[in-house]
Amino acid sequence: MTTAEPRRASPSDRPLPPYLTATADELTAERVAGADEDVHFTERVAAAVIERLTSPGDLVLDPFAGFGTTLAVANRLGRRAVGVELLPERVALIRDRAPGCTVIEGDARGLHELVAEPVDLCLTSPPYMTANAHPHNPLTAYETIDGEYGTYLEHLARLARTVRELLRPGGHLVVNAANIRYVGQTTALAWDVARAVGRVLPFLGETVIVWDALPHDLTGDYLLTFRRDA
Ligand SMILES: C[S@@+](CC[C@H](N)C(=O)[O-])C[C@H]1O[C@@H](n2cnc3c(N)ncnc32)[C@H](O)[C@@H]1O
Repeated sequence: MTTAEPRRASPSDRPLPPYLTATADELTAERVAGADEDVHFTERVAAAVIERLTSPGDLVLDPFAGFGTTLAVANRLGRRAVGVELLPERVALIRDRAPGCTVIEGDARGLHELVAEPVDLCLTSPPYMTANAHPHNPLTAYETIDGEYGTYLEHLARLARTVRELLRPGGHLVVNAANIRYVGQTTALAWDVARAVGRVLPFLGETVIVWDALPHDLTGDYLLTFRRDA
């Protein structure tokens, strides 16, 4: 438990715009050397969130740091940044890409043991899962076949509980989540994440990421914004 001072009062219940744009060309151009897939969000999207919800010197957390977009953009904007990533090869890529940030090789499910500093913003995109045809477990980076949709959502809610403890009063959690059409069924993952995490932190609303061409099997891509009450 942290004894943090409240961060500056947030001016609005709609802290992010209703939509942000992104293009497939940006996604490809921003692919990090050595990356094996395009699961990152774009730097423009990360910058829009970080600029609106933090000030220079604030601490930004990404518990699923991936290829380090959140951390690299936060550093570039003069924020401090800390991330957790399970895969050692990705940790190495992040350390090259954002040498000014702290990246911890570890499991976000144990975040309470990894990060102790008060956080102003948590911006993250968890590994995705569909409710059907998905035996691989996203939270082991798909390396085990014990995936179960309800358990996955419960783990995300538990992680949000830890984030709530780390966030300064008035600080935000922004989760990038998509709805996904896969093997003849649509999983409303974004809605399910909003519901699961919303039981832990008040859900403020969604920002639609408007793509010129939606990546992978996504039917819609969103930023879900939650805020720890001041
Ligand atoms: C969707 S990607 C994040 C991409 C990131 N937003 C970016 O723009 O680079 C999700 C990341 O979470 C990592 N991951 C999966 N399970 C994890 C866990 N239990 N703890 C920490 N990281 C995990 C995966 O290896 C993957 O790199």
